[in-house]
Amino acid sequence: MGELRNDRLLRALLREPVDRTPVWIMRQAGRYLPEYRETRQRAGSFLTLCSTPELACEVTLQPLARFPLDAAILFSDILTVPAAMGMELKFTEGEGPSFPGPLRSAADVEGLGSPDPEVELRYVMDAVRLVRRELDGAVPLIGFAGSPWTLATYMIEGGSSSHYRFTKGMMFAEPRLMHRLLERLADSVCAYLNAQIRAGAQAVMLFDTWGGLLGARDYEDFSLQYMTRIVAGLERRADERQVPVTLFTKGGGAWLEQMADSGCDAVGIDWTVDMGDARRRIGHKVAIQGNLDPCALYAPPERIREEVAGVLAGYGMGSGHVFNLGHGIQPFVDPAQLAVLVDAVHALSEPYHQ
Ligand code: CP3
Repeated sequence: MGELRNDRLLRALLREPVDRTPVWIMRQAGRYLPEYRETRQRAGSFLTLCSTPELACEVTLQPLARFPLDAAILFSDILTVPAAMGMELKFTEGEGPSFPGPLRSAADVEGLGSPDPEVELRYVMDAVRLVRRELDGAVPLIGFAGSPWTLATYMIEGGSSSHYRFTKGMMFAEPRLMHRLLERLADSVCAYLNAQIRAGAQAVMLFDTWGGLLGARDYEDFSLQYMTRIVAGLERRADERQVPVTLFTKGGGAWLEQMADSGCDAVGIDWTVDMGDARRRIGHKVAIQGNLDPCALYAPPERIREEVAGVLAGYGMGSGHVFNLGHGIQPFVDPAQLAVLVDAVHALSEPYHQ
């Protein structure tokens, strides 16, 4: 593959010197962009968008055409893996994802398949290959998957949830069954990420959106343990470069040290954690990604710049910071506001890299 012209993201994730702090945005391809809504309309459904490599590629590149972002993230969804393991997946307009046949018993867990990512998830690998070709070395491509715990919550509840009655019920009442499911998921996710790396993903990230629901005594056992296994199983070189791995647990501020000891290269933090504290706690071990409150994008430009300045100052001098929001960009954001943020990160970060 050709030369990577902007490698700030990969360098910052490995804490190597950079000229400016790299920035990308979780959910950067999404409903806040009118061109995304147009492509999605044309596709007819979100799942068609995910499963058609040409459309997934088109949508992946849309935010890069508007903003000077330092990375592309593959357009897909974390729920492709449970679908490939045999669970019927639906996305209902305005309601989000659902699994009409949720997992509730040992027989349900044993009935899950072990997908070959180049077969059942071939459409994802084809999208990765296509995006790499279209990017042609402009910026690196980030691949991703959901953490086993986060996938389990959707598979057991049957969709998004507010009480996590069935997931936590299984965790407390049948911990061995829960561990069996998490093991199966860790194997599938590891194979899936390795296939993404072989197809061309230059960095990978685990989204542990619901790890923060876990109790202090349970997080390591039910979420971090399985992310650590995945990290250990990844093939972390491609194109003669290291493939950095980022772990992001939303609401995971209590466990930054443990996350940094998982073998990952970077830890993503949400906005409830102070960036300076995070650096003092783990910055000598791993890079840090984050962490502006996504709602800061509802403020006027001057206030957005102040907020960006605050996050950059919190991290301080030197490499090892990847600027991002603390969670995904919301659908109601005006794209012009994101342009202000991206420009501010590049303009205001230069003095921190001298
Ligand atoms: O970051 C990116 O631009 C890449 C694309 C991406 C999507 N989903 C596209 C998407 C990524 C990285 C994800 C991950 C994902 N999916 C997570 C973890 C990240 C997070 O936000 O915490 C989770 C929990 C999911 C599951 C999921 N997918 C939910 C709960 C929903 C419905 C809620 C919503 O925002 O609509 C989705 C749908 C989804 N995934 C959309 C997009 C752009 C919106 C679909 C649409 O209506 O067009």
